[in-house]
Amino acid sequence: MRILLTGTSGQLGNALLSHLPRLPATAVVHAPQRAKLDLSNATQLRQCITDFKPDLIINPAAYTAVDLAESEAEKAHAINAIAPAIMAEEARKLGAGLIHYSTDYVFSGDKSDAEGNWQAYTEADATGPLNVYGQTKLAGEQAIVASGCQHLILRTSWVYSNFGKNFFLTMLKLARERDQLRVVNDQWGTPNSADWLAAATCEILAQLQQANDAVTWWQEFGGVYHLSASGKTNWFAFATAIIELADQQNKLGKAAPQISGIPASEYPVPARRPHNSLLSTEKLQTAFGLSIPDWRITLDACMQGVQLSVSEPLYLTTQAQGQAK
Ligand SMILES: NC(=O)c1ccc[n+]([C@@H]2O[C@H](COP(=O)([O-])OP(=O)(O)OC[C@H]3O[C@@H](n4cnc5c(N)ncnc54)[C@H](OP(=O)(O)O)[C@@H]3O)[C@@H](O)[C@H]2O)c1
Repeated sequence: MRILLTGTSGQLGNALLSHLPRLPATAVVHAPQRAKLDLSNATQLRQCITDFKPDLIINPAAYTAVDLAESEAEKAHAINAIAPAIMAEEARKLGAGLIHYSTDYVFSGDKSDAEGNWQAYTEADATGPLNVYGQTKLAGEQAIVASGCQHLILRTSWVYSNFGKNFFLTMLKLARERDQLRVVNDQWGTPNSADWLAAATCEILAQLQQANDAVTWWQEFGGVYHLSASGKTNWFAFATAIIELADQQNKLGKAAPQISGIPASEYPVPARRPHNSLLSTEKLQTAFGLSIPDWRITLDACMQGVQLSVSEPLYLTTQAQGQAK
């Protein structure tokens, strides 16, 4: 299987790069950096795909600067909407598959029951992004679906890792520097470690590799899915869990800071964010039989630097055969 992988300097792309070589069948992974493949350059992107002729494109690359996107809408649109549209079009011409990642920010974040309790979004729920980033990610999804290519769109939320730029590393840094922290406590969701997202993706890929007929597999399983750990928290409680864990493992080098929760209204930022980012994974579990860990388990693994796998994964059942180039 020839895989074109984007965004390997990012959290998820980096995690995928280290998981992909352990797929059961041989995978040749071509993972050009931005200097060789700028996704905002349509000609370069088409050329890269037609030259490499992938069986599968995996696209974790994205314009992810949510606040900056408000003033750089065109740039965000080029990377989050136009580039996936080109990937989808070229994938369809080649008969290749496309695995693309999207976000909880395609929703408005106000889904609740009659008592006002937040409800998890399903794939069937109406979208309604609150900010430019969410709008461009939704446009990318829609272009992929409209292209008719074989695709999986995996929506996830609150991605973190011990690599790259993210809330987990920011909280650890601040906890080492400060004695008091104020963190938003009225936005709810589920944190997802990039490592677990990569492991889950590879489990799905292993199922594709072991299918008798790839075209039939895509017909049966292609579509939009929510890929997320289980459980529910808010940014304040997530920060508290990160710092408590780091403190228990003596990773702060000082006393843990005092953390207080504040409403989002006291932390003004350019982009509006959803209050409810919860994603239902029922469809994913039914389709692929994945077991979904609680977010605290994946946080613990990230803190310890342990690479995760899904339970009894297909993709770890054979010797490593892949190669990255
Ligand atoms: N982060 C989150 O909390 C979150 C939440 C929900 C969904 N998601 C989605 O999950 C996926 C993975 O996110 P992530 O957190 O891993 O992203 P990330 O760490 O911000 O990485 C983004 C990657 O995209 C690359 N990229 C950006 N613009 C590019 C361009 N013009 N040409 C080539 N490469 C470019 C970046 O390269 P450079 O290093 O060169 O900039 C980087 O490798 C994305 O689809 C994102 O929308 C993320």
